[in-house]
Amino acid sequence: MPAPTRLLFVCLGNICRSPSGENVMRHLVTDADLESEFEIDSAGTAGWHIGKSPDSRMTRAAENRGICMKGAARQVEPEDFARFDWIFAMDDSNYEDLLEVREACPNPTARLIRFCELCEEHEEKEVPDPYYGGPEGFEKVLDLLEDGCAAFLQRWEKKDLP
Ligand code: 4NP
Repeated sequence: MPAPTRLLFVCLGNICRSPSGENVMRHLVTDADLESEFEIDSAGTAGWHIGKSPDSRMTRAAENRGICMKGAARQVEPEDFARFDWIFAMDDSNYEDLLEVREACPNPTARLIRFCELCEEHEEKEVPDPYYGGPEGFEKVLDLLEDGCAAFLQRWEKKDLP
């Protein structure tokens, strides 16, 4: 059996956007009966919330769309660049921070991209941080994640990825 495709979603705190990315993608992969083909995780560039469950506002918004939120926050580490095939940065600041983390990995093989590059139905360049805003921010996060994750999975199924 070929090695699974390993995906890591990264945001700042690992309690809103990236755990949602992880669980949206897991939901799609499970629906497509492809669980054995993927390993999916998430992490934060900051260590402030290590060990915490996803934010309750984010969890509620995801569960309203039938997406079950699981996970405990962890901080991204250099070795993630050797462990994962794809690393998805939620915004530009996450992307810049990840470039620095990658410097400390002796054998980085992961493809690092801005998540919004995957989106087909949205023009946004970043998944905006919803933490200090209202409920619409959490819905926007999910809109973008559902778009980009579905597009990634379709391309994976067609072997249409670099
Ligand atoms: P996330 O959102 O990066 O999507 O998990 C945030 C969570 C916590 C904080 C900022 C953003 N914070 O400042 O604690």
